[in-house]
Amino acid sequence: MRTKLPAQGRARGSVFDQMREMAAGDADWRNGRVPLYVFKANEEVTAVGRDAFFEFFAENALGAKRAFGSLKRMEDEVVAMALDLFHGPEGAVGNMTTGGSESIFMAVRACRDWNRARRGKPRHQGNMVIPYSAHPAFNKAALAMDIDVRRIPLGPDFRADPTAMAAAVDDDTILLVGSAPCFPHGVIDPISELGDLAQRLGIWLHVDACVGGYVAPFVRMIGYPVPDFDFTVPGVRSISADLHKFGFCPKPASTVFYRDPEQAKFQVFNIDDWPNGLFSTPTLTGTRPGGAVAAAWATMQFLGVSGYCNIARGLMTMRDAYVAGIEAIPGLHVWGKPHVSILTWGSEEVDIFRVAEVLSGKGWIPGLVRKPPALHMMMSMYHETGRKDYLDDLRAAVGVVRQEPKAKATIKATY
Ligand SMILES: Cc1ncc(COP(=O)(O)O)c(C=O)c1O
Repeated sequence: MRTKLPAQGRARGSVFDQMREMAAGDADWRNGRVPLYVFKANEEVTAVGRDAFFEFFAENALGAKRAFGSLKRMEDEVVAMALDLFHGPEGAVGNMTTGGSESIFMAVRACRDWNRARRGKPRHQGNMVIPYSAHPAFNKAALAMDIDVRRIPLGPDFRADPTAMAAAVDDDTILLVGSAPCFPHGVIDPISELGDLAQRLGIWLHVDACVGGYVAPFVRMIGYPVPDFDFTVPGVRSISADLHKFGFCPKPASTVFYRDPEQAKFQVFNIDDWPNGLFSTPTLTGTRPGGAVAAAWATMQFLGVSGYCNIARGLMTMRDAYVAGIEAIPGLHVWGKPHVSILTWGSEEVDIFRVAEVLSGKGWIPGLVRKPPALHMMMSMYHETGRKDYLDDLRAAVGVVRQEPKAKATIKATY
């Protein structure tokens, strides 16, 4: 279909009516029928983020230093609050980006260029050794920067296997990665062991806390076990953590941090040789929405430690209720020991992909994992709204699949 710019502008009402009409066919994410993409703490938090976003709707964070001191101050304070949360040592630095993929890209760039400088080899490409469960953003960054990626099989608990990762390291390895937690199984990798390995071999360790960074500290504060994953682990050089996921801030907002400001300098892009003088950005993007910076600052100020702990309590109570509900369905089990509110579950008795197909027929968008075959959900409070309906439909879907054991699933796992 080829759409042309309308010859005459349309009335505002008709434009908005059409958008709403287009959205009418979208998945019912507000009632938890989408297993990822959208995040919710509660209505009040959503409103604070949205209102703060629109307060700075027009401002551009690219101009934070020269024109918008307010945004500069807010970004600096977001970074400082987060560094405090992640136990950043004296001198640690960071900045906001527009998402997890960009934060990862920047950390990989800093690591590659720091390696080039210290090796005295300006064209050294190198390789990264990452767990099989690491996010595809590492491959995306590696593709753009010509770095080889070695994805290493996980241990039996679905966590990174430091011994297997050590065996894959060679003289060209520039980066090790651990996730806190990984997206596919919701478990935090053994970051302390990876940190020991990184220090022993003198290799940069990045912790990808994109999905869990802004919830795991509070889950620990309310008494659930959360292994060390941040700068308390001496080998950790950089961390990515997304505000627009479990920080409950509006999109697009993420953060990237470095233990050592000298290493952080390698993520900055500078060019002076063009008509307009020095152009310097720490991120891949130029223009960045001022609204996202303001909204992150406002959300963090509004919630504080107590607010985030309350949210963590709600999330973990909901997660535990899901685990109980899933395990009460004969033949289903939750895989692994998830640390936050990402769950996967499967079965030795029924084809879980067939179960997914039946659920899909009832309007649930299924999240799927291939290894081991599982249904997958990254849960925020939208999923509390849909919990009872989901568990009823899941039980019924398992019943349907048991009745037709020969039916073959055609559904494919996709992100
Ligand atoms: C562990 C992890 N890292 C990185 C990302 C990428 O984040 P984004 O989609 O904001 O680029 C995700 C997204 O879900 C993730 O779960």
